Amino acid sequence: MTRSTITSDKPYKICFVCLGNICRSPTAEGVFQHLADKNGLQPYFYIDSAGTSAYHIGEPANRKSQMVANKHGVQLNSRARRFKPRDLKEFDLVVAMDEENYQNLLGMAGNEKEKQKIRKMRAFDPVPGDGNVPDPYYGGTDGFEQVFKIVHRSCESLLDILKEKVREQI
Ligand code: 4NP
Repeated sequence: MTRSTITSDKPYKICFVCLGNICRSPTAEGVFQHLADKNGLQPYFYIDSAGTSAYHIGEPANRKSQMVANKHGVQLNSRARRFKPRDLKEFDLVVAMDEENYQNLLGMAGNEKEKQKIRKMRAFDPVPGDGNVPDPYYGGTDGFEQVFKIVHRSCESLLDILKEKVREQI
């Protein structure tokens, strides 16, 4: 995905994106960071998240998202921010949680190279679904558990793809 090698000199930058940047994308940020750390790949990645809306700027991750993540040993340390068109220049990969976020991001892309950086989270999910990580905001804890599961599976398979590009420096 846009770069053939990843070195610790130039970490691979991923931004996970949802609507509010308080539920799904902070979960993805925390889970991917956790998996990278667990695999000794921390120096090779720079992980962030953002929202397409301005509704929750400055807020920490949702309490239920944090509760579910913590239960699985994952910390969520994000503060909500709004995704900026400039992020499409700075990041190597921008991962949208659902079709609406995906279309919004495509609309911000300035050129073909930036468009190529935008993917949907569930494109990496080995379990087939409807292509979206469902928005859990107005539902109960079950929805947050479901988000965690989908995001965890998808992040594992994304990391599997990217770790093939990691090169040790001599
Ligand atoms: P997220 O969830 O996009 O996964 O962070 C939402 C958070 C807030 C709202 C919608 C979804 N909202 O409408 O305020």
